[in-house]
Amino acid sequence: MVTAVAQRLLSQRKQVDDTLAHFSLNRDQLRVVRDKMRVELERGLRKDSHSSASVKMLPAFVFQTPDGTERGKYLALDLGGTNFRVLVVKIRSGIRKSVRMYNKIYAIPHEIMQGTGEELFDHIVHCISDFLDYMGMKNTRLPLGFTFSFPCRQTGIDKGSLVSWTKGFKATDCEDHDVVDMLRDAIKRRNEFDLDIVAVVNDTVGTMMTCAYEDSKCEIGLIAGTGSNVCYMEDMRNIETVEGDEGQMCVNTEWGGFGENGCIEDIRTKFDREVDEGSLNSGKQRFEKMTSGMYLGEIVRQILIDLTKRGLLFRGRITEPLKTRGIFETKFLSQIERFISTYTLIIALMHLQSLGSTCDDSIIVKEVCGAVSHRAAQLCGAGMAAIVEKIRENRGLEHLEITVGVDGTLYKLHPHFSRVLKDTVRDLAPKCTVSFVLSEDGSGKGAALITAVARRYCGQHRLSRPLLQPPFDYTLLEIMSRFRRELEKGLSQDTNPTATVKMLPTFVRSIPDGTEKGDFIALDLGGSNFRILRVKVSHEKKQTVQMETEIYDTPEDIIHGSGTRLFDHVAECLGDFMEKHKIKDKKLPVGFTFSFPCAQTKLDEGILLTWTKRFKASGVEGMDVVKLLNKAIKKRGVRFTDIMAVVNDTVGTMMTCGFDDHRCEVGIIIGTGTNACYMEEMRHIELVEGDEGRMCINTEWGAFGDDGMLEDIRTDFDRDIDRGSLNPGKQLFEKMVSGMYMGELVRLILVKMAREGLLFEGRITPELLTKGKFETKHISAIEKSKEGLSKAKEILARLGVEPSADDCIAVQHVCAIVSFRSASLVAATLAAILTRLKDNKHVPRLKTTVGIDGSLYKMHPQCVWCLMGGVVAVAFAGISLIYSSLPVCLLGTLGVCTKPFAGWYQNAMSASFSRKVAAAKGLPW
Ligand code: BG6
Ligand code: GLC
Ligand code: GLC
Repeated sequence: MVTAVAQRLLSQRKQVDDTLAHFSLNRDQLRVVRDKMRVELERGLRKDSHSSASVKMLPAFVFQTPDGTERGKYLALDLGGTNFRVLVVKIRSGIRKSVRMYNKIYAIPHEIMQGTGEELFDHIVHCISDFLDYMGMKNTRLPLGFTFSFPCRQTGIDKGSLVSWTKGFKATDCEDHDVVDMLRDAIKRRNEFDLDIVAVVNDTVGTMMTCAYEDSKCEIGLIAGTGSNVCYMEDMRNIETVEGDEGQMCVNTEWGGFGENGCIEDIRTKFDREVDEGSLNSGKQRFEKMTSGMYLGEIVRQILIDLTKRGLLFRGRITEPLKTRGIFETKFLSQIERFISTYTLIIALMHLQSLGSTCDDSIIVKEVCGAVSHRAAQLCGAGMAAIVEKIRENRGLEHLEITVGVDGTLYKLHPHFSRVLKDTVRDLAPKCTVSFVLSEDGSGKGAALITAVARRYCGQHRLSRPLLQPPFDYTLLEIMSRFRRELEKGLSQDTNPTATVKMLPTFVRSIPDGTEKGDFIALDLGGSNFRILRVKVSHEKKQTVQMETEIYDTPEDIIHGSGTRLFDHVAECLGDFMEKHKIKDKKLPVGFTFSFPCAQTKLDEGILLTWTKRFKASGVEGMDVVKLLNKAIKKRGVRFTDIMAVVNDTVGTMMTCGFDDHRCEVGIIIGTGTNACYMEEMRHIELVEGDEGRMCINTEWGAFGDDGMLEDIRTDFDRDIDRGSLNPGKQLFEKMVSGMYMGELVRLILVKMAREGLLFEGRITPELLTKGKFETKHISAIEKSKEGLSKAKEILARLGVEPSADDCIAVQHVCAIVSFRSASLVAATLAAILTRLKDNKHVPRLKTTVGIDGSLYKMHPQCVWCLMGGVVAVAFAGISLIYSSLPVCLLGTLGVCTKPFAGWYQNAMSASFSRKVAAAKGLPW
């Protein structure tokens, strides 16, 4: 016989159980959550569905996790969690690798969180000011990383506009504004100190970076704190909202928004809806409101009210505190659940809240807390399972081992949250082994690490990023994919007219096979020297090559005068050469290396499209240079066979190299100008009829960027150079890369630094102000490892300044930055050509050789250009497919090709494909 009391207790129990049953999710339900999360992740990444996706998948513009070489002193701000902190982070690399932090926590009063944007940012700057005073650092302009733990739409590492406030913030006039700009403006308003804001970072990203600093397997960051969110490293090719396909980028998922489109209504309870309705952002962040610290206590309070109303708790009495929003803090949840059997503690807690409760009540309250936090951990686990499964599939792996860096008060303080989270992930993603590593204070440290990575290539403190912006590694991958698209644009008939990279067919259809022989003359016009050569190659017994060469002057008044005069001068030099070498009566074939962009319809015709570099003779653009030269030669009465071929210097270089190495199918010039050619499939060259075989394309990559495509990386110095050049608005890539402009670039930087008092004690001499006084060859001399600094002293002395030892180091540094940028840019465009070649051939592994020539390449200390090989390798690092194949051989190739492929030799080859004349191995250099 059941007594009435027992029956009442049973019914009470059942009602409580029924209420809490809504919070218990079985395996199938969790699987459904996982799968729906996966769908939303994909929708957020895709261009067509991104705007309507509830999981926003915001690109974070972080491309690499740290590699341990980061160092320096940084300021970091951490806004958006339980505390607002200002920190100084000191990072050391090498054997003393360590991260040290000093921080101060500041309160953000409620009225400021929900006041105006200006007040909020003024308050932040006020706290920074206090901190700098406290640390005695007001006068050092430190680089700053800003952890801003709200959804930001980023367009670069230091640009991010707030999508919408979440959690407890609601300051006006901030949404859709750039938070870095707002911070900068507030710093200006205060006008007390200056900071170099380098990066804006979500807390998940900071957490991932901090953990990755110790554990290279860490590619996910999780925050389970006031808010709930995850970031991870995604393949660029999957992030359709950002240009570029190569490598990886961190994506801030903002998974807190999951469910905003109604897809998890089946598991939301009426309590979740009540919490949502009472929040600052009703309808938003539905997943966050079921999983994060800011809301769990509130859910518990709503349940307690409901149970009390139904007479199941607190003797049916709803007290004032119980009616107060926010009174039941998430930390109580942690505390209540931690003390499994100490009901007294529970009672104490309840009394503390003046809720007035009994021991039975305490059991129920504990069960309510348990149900709410258990569900939160399970939901996070289901979401995490979707993420790790996605990464596993991205990589085509049977099994994935990965580390998650975690931070947040809920994860750290709650007794069961982390265990349930891990169990759920294990259950729902059985093909992944996921380790969770606590990354305490992750976001502050992480912001500093990201700042360090972003600044790594940006040079010393003296030179505050004038050249490499935005961050280096991003730029290269981005440049590489932009250039790849330009190549395609130039090849297609429809888009060629508007393409900047002209992709000129050269009518060279094969690489020499080494059997060529003969006797001929080569002209080489367009590089730093005008040369004429006679080349004799024979195959009797041993292959021999005889070569005679003369260099002729091309005075400025001739290259800037009339076209007729220019070609008369060339013909005159040819006459002189033939006389000197006693070949006046021989009708030798002539090859013409003409290093300017020419439209060709056959081998022996070349219509000059536009002069580049130093040349500007009138009446030549739009004309066939072969005809002009023929005419001039005939006028002089020189006897010769007609010009056999006109070729670009890049093509000559490729052919020369190809003669020795059959794998060579790319030629590049890094000299006065810069350019590349490569062997393209005929079927892709829409401008020439026929689909069979291959043809060499002269890309004329110097013009890359002439449509504004490189504006984001061009600096004011580049713009100055362009304005003062013979062809403003044209050859913008060339002007950032090649020998004709590099010296000037360095000079302009030195002038600016001197003006700012950073060099030569602020003294500027007339020589320093004279265009052309600092030459590219000076860069090469100054960068030499041994005598570089004394050279710097000598060269600067000639410019009238008396450099200190520090000045010389700084100037050497400027030179290194300018040449490193040049090498890196070439690496990026070259990488685009190589990936195209690889795709054309449908091979998993491309083995190829690149022929290189040019005065800059030859004279400059080699290490930079070897670096170029390294940079190409970096560019490929993200593409796992190619990573194992290309860089090694490419590096090798670039190493091998350090031998100069002298210009005169390449001329020999310029005619070889038509006449099958020879050039040879074992030449005297
Ligand atoms: C802290 C980080 O450790 O964790 C913050 O420094 C982050 O940036 C926070 O927002 C998340 O946890 P909570 O609980 O403070 O929101
Ligand atoms: C909120 C924010 C998100 C942040 C998370 C954790 O979800 O929108 O940016 O990462 O809280 O702090
Ligand atoms: C310029 C010319 C190009 C040449 C290059 C290297 O870019 O336009 O044709 O190949 O310089 O000399």
